[in-house]
Amino acid sequence: MQNILVTGGAGYIGSHICLKLRESGYCPVVFDNLSNGHRDAIAPDIPFIQADIRDSEKLDRTFSEFQPTAVIHMAALIEAGLSMHEPSKFYNVNVAGSLNLLDAMRRHDCLHIVFSSTAAVYGNAGLDLLDERLPVRPENPYGRSKAMVETMLADYFAIYGFKAIALRYFNAAGADPKGRAGERHDPETHLIPLALQAAAGLRSEMKIFGGDYNTPDGTCIRDYIHVDDLADAHVKAVQNLTSRKNTTFEIINIGTGKGYSVKEIIELCQSITGQKFPVSLKPRRPGDPAKLVADPAKAKVLLDWQPKYGSAHDIIKHSWNFYMKTMS
Ligand SMILES: NC(=O)c1ccc[n+]([C@@H]2O[C@H](COP(=O)([O-])OP(=O)(O)OC[C@H]3O[C@@H](n4cnc5c(N)ncnc54)[C@H](O)[C@@H]3O)[C@@H](O)[C@H]2O)c1
Repeated sequence: MQNILVTGGAGYIGSHICLKLRESGYCPVVFDNLSNGHRDAIAPDIPFIQADIRDSEKLDRTFSEFQPTAVIHMAALIEAGLSMHEPSKFYNVNVAGSLNLLDAMRRHDCLHIVFSSTAAVYGNAGLDLLDERLPVRPENPYGRSKAMVETMLADYFAIYGFKAIALRYFNAAGADPKGRAGERHDPETHLIPLALQAAAGLRSEMKIFGGDYNTPDGTCIRDYIHVDDLADAHVKAVQNLTSRKNTTFEIINIGTGKGYSVKEIIELCQSITGQKFPVSLKPRRPGDPAKLVADPAKAKVLLDWQPKYGSAHDIIKHSWNFYMKTMS
C-alpha cells in the first residue's frame, strides 16, 4: 500500500481526505502540529506525527521512515481576515513552511505534490466564472501567501522536475455524508457553520458583512464545494500525478460553477434546520471580493472529476447532521 504524506491532515479538509485515501487503497500519514486540528479527527491506527512543517529534522525523519509516494500539502494558516492584521505569521507558516517542505521532498526524492491553493488568489476579478488562466490578484496576505507557493511550485517543476497539482478550492463546506468527520474550527469564520451555530442557539445572531455589493441581493456570492467532493479531487490528483511519466505542473479549480449569495445560504440554513435565528447587517470587511465562482471545466478534463453534490442543500444537511451528532 502506498503511503501518502498529508500535512494538515488533522484539520477540517485533511480529515476528510484521510478517509477518502483509505477508501481508495492508500495509507495516509498525517503530519500536523495541531495548532488548528484535532487528534481525534484521525483514526487511531493512521500514522500521526505531531510536528511543524517548519521543522526540517522531523520532516526528514518522517520521509525516511514512511517513504511516501506523494504529499498532499494542506498545513497552513487559513483565516484571510486575520492575515490582514498579522501577515508575518501567514508568510512564515504558509510560505516559509511550504518551502521547507518542498526542500525536504527534494532531499528524499519524493517529487509528487498536491497543494491546497484557494480561490482567494483571484481577488476581485468581477467575472461570472473564474478560470485558471486569469491573472492572480489576491486581495489579502492569505491569498498572496498561496499565490507565492504556486509560483514556487512552478519553479520546482521547471528546475527540479517536480510533478505538482495546485488545487484552487472555492468555499469548502459540508461534512462526511456518513457522519464520521465535519468542520470544527475554533474560532469559526465560515458562513455555513456560523449559521448552523446560530440555528443551534450557540450564537445570539448571524452577522452579514456587506449588503451593498454589486450582486442581485447585495451580499457576496460564493461557490460552495462539498468537502467529500473536495476529498475525491485530491485522490484523483494523486492518481494523476503518480501515473504520469513526464513532469507536470497544473493549477486546477475545484468548485461547482454555481454561486449562492450569503443571504441565500442563511435562508437555506433556516429552512433546513427549521430555526429562524436573528440576522444583522454589518459594514463590508476589507479584502472580501464580491463574487467568487469557479469555472470547473479543467478539473473535468484533466482529473475526470466533477462534484457529486452540486447543491448547497446537501452540504448544509450533512453539516447539520454532523452538528446534531457532535452536540448530542
Ligand atoms: N476551508 C476552506 O474553505 C478552504 C478554501 C481554500 C483553501 N483552503 C486550504 O485548505 C487547507 C486546509 O484548510 P482547512 O479548512 O482544513 O483548515 P484547518 O485549519 O482545519 O486545517 C489546517 C491544518 O494545518 C495544521 N497546521 C497549521 N499550521 C501548521 C504547521 N506550521 N505545521 C503543521 N501543521 C500545521 C493545523 O493544525 C490544521 O490541522 C489550507 O491550506 C487552506 O488554506 C481551505
